[in-house]
Amino acid sequence: MARTPFIAGNWKMHKTVAEAEDHIQAFLPRVYSADGVDVAICVPYTDLQAMVDSTRGSRVEVFAQNMHEAPHGAFTGEISAPMLSEIDVHGVVLGHSERRQYFNETDKALSQKMVTAFDAGLKPILCVGETEEERERGDTERKLRHQVQEGLERLTPEQIAAVTVAYEPIWAIGTGRVATPEQAQEAIAFVRALIEDKAPAAAPLARVLYGGSVTPDNAPELLALPDVDGALVGGASLDPENLARIVDAAAQLVAAAAS
Ligand code: PGA
Repeated sequence: MARTPFIAGNWKMHKTVAEAEDHIQAFLPRVYSADGVDVAICVPYTDLQAMVDSTRGSRVEVFAQNMHEAPHGAFTGEISAPMLSEIDVHGVVLGHSERRQYFNETDKALSQKMVTAFDAGLKPILCVGETEEERERGDTERKLRHQVQEGLERLTPEQIAAVTVAYEPIWAIGTGRVATPEQAQEAIAFVRALIEDKAPAAAPLARVLYGGSVTPDNAPELLALPDVDGALVGGASLDPENLARIVDAAAQLVAAAAS
């Protein structure tokens, strides 16, 4: 594998601080020896500080699940990039389909959020993906092209090299209906080609993850696909053992590639 695999657990709106502490105390020893794999948990705002403190010195990075595109301002209820980086948060999920669907997140705001995140030293994970109707209409590539182009529009080639894109077909999120390996590989190869159009030298460095009903059982097959650099894991990440088993699957591929 040319790129370091990346497994990110997205807790969504789950876990109080006490529950988060229980999770991380079980999870950290399980991933201690997962050499060659980058690991992150994407947690609610109220868990960020506690998780940053509890994971310090470990391989686990802590990501927020959203942020505002402006560095400060009259935006009641919002959180800015400098607020996240001040408490040593490593990165941020941007444009998750639930944000796009329920909170009217727009591609225009996202293209600014990507810049704002980099300016604050945060690593963004840009989420893209088609609905079931778009796939059935044959519009998957059109949707991905639009989302990837807008998301990367204002980034420098150096920033694009550091980007993670998560391809998450909306019909696979939280449904138990995982994409077939062929569907995942085809869409992710297409995303990589779009990155290459924008920044040819950066494309081999940018990571593209698969997300949508990833479990410890289907992870080995998905992670072994040539263009898949890791997984964004929702439901299965709520259980530390399940998330650790997905990290194990990535570590086993790294070890097999090295031997
Ligand atoms: P899921 O969620 O693994 O529960 O399908 C994935 C995501 O929303 O990132």
